[in-house]
Amino acid sequence: MNKNLLITFIAGIAATGGLLFGFDTGVINVALPTLRKAFDLTPELESWVVSAVLAGGMVGPFVSGPLTDYLGRKKINILASLIFVIGSILTAIAPNVVFLIGGRLLLGLAIGIVASTVPLYIAELAPKEKRGQLVTFFQLAITLGILLSYVVGYLFEGQENAWRLMFWTGFIPAAVLFTGMFFVPESPRWLISKGRSEEALLVLNKLRTPEQALEELKETEEILSEKTSGKGDWKILFTKKLRIPLFIGIGIFCIQQFSGINAIIYYSTDIFKKLFDGPTATLATVGVGVINTFATLLAIRLLDKIGRKPLLYIGLIGTAFCLGTVGLAFYMKDSLPAALQQWMLVGGIYTYIIFFAISLGPLGWLLISEVYPLKIRGFASSMGSFNHWFFDFWVAFSFPRLAATSLGDNGGIFGIYMLVVLLGLFFARYVVFETKGLSLEDIEKKWK
Ligand code: BGC
Repeated sequence: MNKNLLITFIAGIAATGGLLFGFDTGVINVALPTLRKAFDLTPELESWVVSAVLAGGMVGPFVSGPLTDYLGRKKINILASLIFVIGSILTAIAPNVVFLIGGRLLLGLAIGIVASTVPLYIAELAPKEKRGQLVTFFQLAITLGILLSYVVGYLFEGQENAWRLMFWTGFIPAAVLFTGMFFVPESPRWLISKGRSEEALLVLNKLRTPEQALEELKETEEILSEKTSGKGDWKILFTKKLRIPLFIGIGIFCIQQFSGINAIIYYSTDIFKKLFDGPTATLATVGVGVINTFATLLAIRLLDKIGRKPLLYIGLIGTAFCLGTVGLAFYMKDSLPAALQQWMLVGGIYTYIIFFAISLGPLGWLLISEVYPLKIRGFASSMGSFNHWFFDFWVAFSFPRLAATSLGDNGGIFGIYMLVVLLGLFFARYVVFETKGLSLEDIEKKWK
């Protein structure tokens, strides 16, 4: 198989983990109406059904953290896909709400693992000039998963027990990931770090020209042999030397999540229902999914051309503007004509999604896959992923509660998200650095 095609195929298989991430987090948006009926959900139970996946997501990195560096990137992904298979079956057959929450916790656990391991697996296999686009396959797959869940929700809407059919749909990509992972190679960089250079060279030869393969092998061996690369002890992540990458992993996900993305991804139907009837609101939600996917395709083209930092600036300014518009639509609802208010709300949300998808969305996963040293990359990237789930949990948990207060009525929530995004400009200016065109080893040298 042609080398380009092969690497795309491998990244595509691994990225199915992202599809499951998107599907299992997004599906709740459309499954909730029938779940409410089926289980007589109280608001308390409802927030647990939504947030169980996110709580599981927080636990996942603690499993992947030690195991990704110890077992390797491939085996840990096989384990995660098995958990996805079990979780999908359990949620689809759930006889009661406790069972359902248990199944969603398992799905979250698997999502937390793949979110830590898939981006770094792809980053370690990718040639440097294509790393941005290939790792962004993961984000593209997340958006496709979200879109799939919305479309499935739209198709099954109105059917009794529609939620079971929706959850069964998640079983299919889980089975694909489980099977596919047996056909992809182990990460050559991980193999080298375990002293298995011959196997690594075999993998590299399939993906690069023989000269490039040898050069990459040498470069990785060199960086590992330097004393300053450390013993692979996770504690070095918290030393002064790695302060910048540590801050990047915390800051990028804090801003990504407090930009309010998942208030929209999980609750857009409820938000749109404030202005439209039920079916129109669901259709508007499908629109969110479609735009998210197309804009991510654009990101794939831009990341390795324009670079990470300029896109981050564009995304932050754009999302802040859109959040302000949505906030105003709520704040001025009594003085604005209804049509204008609808335009501001739908237009603001759709444009927000475009700016998010070309910046904060892919950059979170991309940066945590590339800024850490090889010896602790698995652990460090898992900690980055933990930050994602931690912040995500609080946004998802707080949004319905805040929306029920005056901050929901007057659009204040969106004002808060806008402020966070504006503060993100300082983070982009003083913490993030450009990684476009640099090899993972070049980046690692920066920390020495
Ligand atoms: C975020 C998710 C979000 C998704 C939306 C991802 O980068 O990590 O929390 O739901 O983008 O596309």
